[in-house]
Amino acid sequence: MADTRHFLTLMDFSPTELNTLIQRAIEMKQEHRAGTGERRFTGHVLGMIFEKSSTRTRVSFEAGMTQLGGHAMFLSPDDTQLGRGEPIEDSARVISSMVDIVMIRTFGHDIVETFAAHSSVPVINGLTDDYHPCQLLADMQTYVEHRGSIAGKVVTWVGDGNNMAQSYINAARQFDFELRIACPRGFDPADELLQAHSDRVSIVRDPMSAAEGADLVVTDVWASMGQEAEQKAREAAFVGYQVNGELMSRAAPGALYMHCLPAHRGEEISAELMDAADTVIWDEAENRLHAQKAVVETLLLANS
Ligand code: CP
Ligand code: NVA
Repeated sequence: MADTRHFLTLMDFSPTELNTLIQRAIEMKQEHRAGTGERRFTGHVLGMIFEKSSTRTRVSFEAGMTQLGGHAMFLSPDDTQLGRGEPIEDSARVISSMVDIVMIRTFGHDIVETFAAHSSVPVINGLTDDYHPCQLLADMQTYVEHRGSIAGKVVTWVGDGNNMAQSYINAARQFDFELRIACPRGFDPADELLQAHSDRVSIVRDPMSAAEGADLVVTDVWASMGQEAEQKAREAAFVGYQVNGELMSRAAPGALYMHCLPAHRGEEISAELMDAADTVIWDEAENRLHAQKAVVETLLLANS
């Protein structure tokens, strides 16, 4: 409904709100470690609609909701009327009349937009073909925890111009950093997004040049969910676009590298980097839990 706040992309929150949210996520992580986290949402229910597979998103939302005192309900198209063609609009009206907040992982971004437009409760985007904003919160939290503010820094994206790359474009705007995108021709992020943020986002085809002096290097799988049939063709198209020790040697001293996971060792990232003792990739994955608890709290309080 018109005045309900949602989290469909990073643009749904102001830069100030996003930075506050990251600080709250860091605080909630400390509280969780200390066993002092408040169960302030007793009796609240999160409906989780998954039209694509997930490990991190499902586990983090479900564990997080329990830790907040509430409950998370897993809804699959295989077992609900969503998979039998009940309109999104009707499903949104009904589901939102029974739960307090909804998370959706699906294909078209228009599906989460349609759901949100007909939902009486907040809707969180748990990944669409176009955006993965929850992952960006975890990435930003991880950078802040290890290196402080990311404002004014240089971030290099290596690989497909996919939902993660497009979320990084929004992040460049909202968290105020320079983003260089190294992707092969034909795999660019949406042109309108590049145009809209051309003051801080550029395409640098050569990954080694793009990594020069970077503070953070990020990559993701070459074939996203739904593109499995393209895996072989993409492996050929992305030769040379691996994040590895040689590429990281071009980055700034102390540069971090991230991957949202799941990863293909030896494709978009080397096994050496994945298995390095000092990688922050596992912190990045864990931070999904804390960052999303902060999002759930923010949205539930905003709509209460
Ligand atoms: N990074 C991420 O969203 O992982 P899952 O697909 O396992 O949820
Ligand atoms: N780009 C990947 C991210 C997975 C978390 C995908 O959409 O499959």
